Amino acid sequence: MNEVARVQDRPSPGERHVVEELMASVSPETRVLCDEPLARRTTLRVGGPADVYVEPASEADLAAVLRFCTARAVPFFILGRGSNLLVRDGGFRGVVICLAHPVFAQIQVRGECLDCGAGARLKQVAAEARRQGLGGLEFLDGIPGSVGGALRMNAGAMGSSTFDVVRTVRAMDMRGVVHEWSAAEMEAGYRCCPRLKDHVALGAVFAGRPTPRAEIERRLNEWNLKRWQSQPASASAGCIFKNPASIPAGRLIEELGLKGARVGGAVVSVEHGNFIVNEGNARARDVLELIALIKYYAKAQRGIELETEVVIVGED
Ligand code: EPU
Repeated sequence: MNEVARVQDRPSPGERHVVEELMASVSPETRVLCDEPLARRTTLRVGGPADVYVEPASEADLAAVLRFCTARAVPFFILGRGSNLLVRDGGFRGVVICLAHPVFAQIQVRGECLDCGAGARLKQVAAEARRQGLGGLEFLDGIPGSVGGALRMNAGAMGSSTFDVVRTVRAMDMRGVVHEWSAAEMEAGYRCCPRLKDHVALGAVFAGRPTPRAEIERRLNEWNLKRWQSQPASASAGCIFKNPASIPAGRLIEELGLKGARVGGAVVSVEHGNFIVNEGNARARDVLELIALIKYYAKAQRGIELETEVVIVGED
């Protein structure tokens, strides 16, 4: 049976009607939740609820949800692990689609490649590569995201980016048609992948290279240590800003003397200037004010326009 928690509580029969229609268009295995709090589905742990939250149980159901939203002009977005996401306090008026069903999280070994579903965690991809003695994918271990999210923003760490190791990508368009492209065709750039703005990543083939296991483990340990020494462990959305061409955002924010700056429960990390941490009671509004403050000083004192790396959704 569909999970229909709280559908009955919805104030607007019109909206309930929409939800019922959506549920009728997918299989019973697909989870559909109403007024689903998003804070606990993001690593920053702030933000209000989504009107509707859907976990499709198959590609066919995902296609049905995309067609449903497109046909009715219902706003929607794809939620990965929520590690690069800031949801405003008023929540999201529309449908949040999450590929959390195990069907999207498969990792299959094919020679020197790993064929990974969009819902697989990057940590699992790195672990499988290690098991198979495939090097080059170690940097994925420390990125707290899913394959889909990493493709969407060409996530990176330790000097490498996702598309450096991707061979092909499978993605679905808004009509539910599946495409397969080479990495080059995706035209990914620094923290962006334009093609995935209007397509949903279903998975990717990652290419490794045969490497002694000890070497892979040495790199994993070294980078793990570097991360723990330079980044905060508290709740955050990772780096808040993209690095401008002239200076890493973290160093800039440190030079501006903004480490430790606070609005409510949101604080600029003292460990790394490009992280804003939630001390436990932050609201999205606090984080947004802190972002605005940093942007103001970067522009006023150094003439630098900082651009957020985190995706900001929802309403105040
Ligand atoms: N730095 C400072 N002060 C700070 C932070 C950094 O002076 O508070 C300096 C460092 O000493 C270093 C330089 O700035 O010389 C760059 O810092 P770091 O090596 O920490 O890398 P980053 O450019 O700040 C990038 C990614 C991170 C990734 C790390 C590690 C971006 C925006 N960020 O950070 O990714 O984990 O490299 O490889 O590209 C993320 O994207 O969310 C993220 C955390």
